[in-house]
Amino acid sequence: MKFFIDTANLAQIQEAHDLGILDGVTTNPSLMAKEGIKGEEAIMKHYVTICDMVKGDVSAEVISTDFDGIIEEGKKLAALHPRIVVKVPMIKDGVKAIKWFTENKIKTNCTLVFSAGQAILAAKAGATYVSPFIGRIDDSAWDGVDLIAQIANIYSLQSFKTEILAASIRSALHIVKCAEAGADVCTCPLDSILGLLKHPLTDIGLAKFLEDAKKTR
Ligand code: G3P
Repeated sequence: MKFFIDTANLAQIQEAHDLGILDGVTTNPSLMAKEGIKGEEAIMKHYVTICDMVKGDVSAEVISTDFDGIIEEGKKLAALHPRIVVKVPMIKDGVKAIKWFTENKIKTNCTLVFSAGQAILAAKAGATYVSPFIGRIDDSAWDGVDLIAQIANIYSLQSFKTEILAASIRSALHIVKCAEAGADVCTCPLDSILGLLKHPLTDIGLAKFLEDAKKTR
């Protein structure tokens, strides 16, 4: 499973990158706004900065909701850097646009996916990635990880090539459960990635080893 970081914060991207396990970045308009990035020029520049920091794919989201607007915006985003992936919402014109991008060799991430039916449509349109929002499904008292398992099963049975990118990750446990359920990619906040490091027995064991090591020096 690949690890993406779900942020537009450069310091957090750098920290995950320095850990040596980062395969890419996902952003969305809310994450860009959180960093105070304002204006088209600044937004475009920020995407290029992120692309220059990491080796993998970087998802940049369109804000148009009509076919022509999505295509125009997506073309501009894709022209910024070869590793930009155009993030498109799961709406009717979004599906049409994903099909167009697929035919024109532009990578896509179909976002705001909450059902297996939507995931099938994204795959049929040829999306590179499909992004089911695990945490937001859990927020509504449904099971987000179950959706990952259902999509993984369907994609495997139907030989769909679209990669399942588990998004809206809220914890280290979500990451483990998504790996078990067959996600190809998990896009996570830095805290959830760092949460994977934690185990009290590791800390206790290390303290003991370091204590005993003193006897050998
Ligand atoms: O990748 C989508 C993600 O950023 C949404 O996360 O926590 O706002 O549901 P969240």
